[in-house]
Formats: sequence, C-alpha cells, structure tokens
Amino acid sequence: MKIKPQIDFSVVDEIIGRYENPSESLISLLQDIQEEYGYLPTDVMVRISEQAGIPLSRLMGVATFYSQFKLNAPGKYKVLVCMGTACHVNNGERVADAVAKTLGVKEGETTADGLFSWEEVACLGCCSLSPVMMINGQVYGKLDGKKVEQVINDIRKAELERAGQ
Ligand code: FES
Repeated sequence: MKIKPQIDFSVVDEIIGRYENPSESLISLLQDIQEEYGYLPTDVMVRISEQAGIPLSRLMGVATFYSQFKLNAPGKYKVLVCMGTACHVNNGERVADAVAKTLGVKEGETTADGLFSWEEVACLGCCSLSPVMMINGQVYGKLDGKKVEQVINDIRKAELERAGQ
C-alpha cells in the first residue's frame, strides 16, 4: 500500500504569504507550489482555498487549464518517451503505446502503486539510439514493444523483491 506523505502546511502558508493578493497571482502561486511538491497535491489546493479565500473550483480550473500543472504525484520512476523527429520516424509512437499498455495508465498519470508515471517529451539528445525512452536519467534505446515491456517489468520485479525483504 502506498503511504500518503504528510504535508507541512506551514510551507504552503509561507508560499501563499509571498503574494499580497493571491487570487490575482494564481499562476505564479501554483508554479511555486508545484516547484515545492513536484505537483499540486489536493490537500494543498484545499489549504490554499481556505487560507486565501479562493474557491477550490477556481483553483482547479486554473490547474487543469494549463498543461504545465500536474495534479498527480509523479511515480518513483519517471518514464520519458521521446517524441523528437528521429524517434518519431522510428516508431516512437509504438514505444509510447507499449509504455501505456505495460503500465496501464495514460500519459501524465501514475500507476496505482506509485511506482511509475510517464510522459512524452521532445528530443532527449541521443537520436542515434532512436526510438528512445529515459527512466530516471537512464537511456534505453533501439526500443520495440517487447523491450519496453521487459525493461519496465524488470524494474517492477526488482522493486517487489526489495519490498519483500
Ligand atoms: S529524437 Fe529522440 S533522442 Fe533525439
């Protein structure tokens, strides 16, 4: 089971306090929150709403309108699937499909066990290995669906073994 991390609301309050009129600086405020937590946790959004007197619906409206904001906690393993030109012409789309299928979640989502999240990105700078994905800084190249599945399942297996110790 995934343990929900405790949020120190004094940090949230300090960020809100940076703004004289938080309701008129929502984008900057949410950017600061995301920089602190890596995403916009629901509990934090509720706290902002209460402390700054901003309706939660308005906060969520801004958070969902701009693609820069993430509402889900990223996974322990962040899978970046390259959609740059070289990877695109070398079946990068199939790599993305294989990642989605193996993880069972859509782009931008996190698996229920909190282990993986994934997103498509621009060129990762190793085009000669296309199509490419990167997991926590490690590059995997010359991918096909089978290799994607194997890499992800190996990580999953290692994590399960570690958890069982
Ligand atoms: S296009 Fe994928 S690494 Fe450059």
